[in-house]
Amino acid sequence: MERRKISFDLLVYDTLDELSPSEKTLMQIAEGARENAYAPYSKFMVGAAVLLANEEVVIGNNQENASYPSGLCAERVAIFQAGAKYPKVAIKSIAISVSSKTHIVQRPAAPCGNCRQAIAEYEQNQDSPISIIMKAASGKIFKCESLEDILPLAFGSSYL
Ligand code: THU
Repeated sequence: MERRKISFDLLVYDTLDELSPSEKTLMQIAEGARENAYAPYSKFMVGAAVLLANEEVVIGNNQENASYPSGLCAERVAIFQAGAKYPKVAIKSIAISVSSKTHIVQRPAAPCGNCRQAIAEYEQNQDSPISIIMKAASGKIFKCESLEDILPLAFGSSYL
């Protein structure tokens, strides 16, 4: 038996000013997108902003539905829009901002499992990392340098 350890570096920042100017701006765009989230059921507001290699930014926010499973997370709204609008352009980063209408969210939220799988598809296809930057209303800011860090052993088209 061989034991393999899989680990990654989570980068933790105290303030937005510690990020690069483009990352800071991307998070501010995600925060703006969060304001327009449609989350009447969970009251949990999520905004996402995707930065592309051509410097364009595409946004998304969570879109809920009275038939709960029909809703979609902010990350997939954003990344699918990027894929639809700029199918040939690589994705550099995704910034994710979360807040709640019922309590103060104190720590960043990482993308859910379904969103990780969706983002992994783009990262595998473009063969360059997509960094994930996460922030809540208060508390520290998290950054993963690659989606693969938070979805190790990912399934993908190479198996098919
Ligand atoms: N949500 C996101 O938009 N992104 C995540 O990464 C986690 C959850 C949304 C889905 C739903 O509208 C609400 O947050 C509560 O789960």
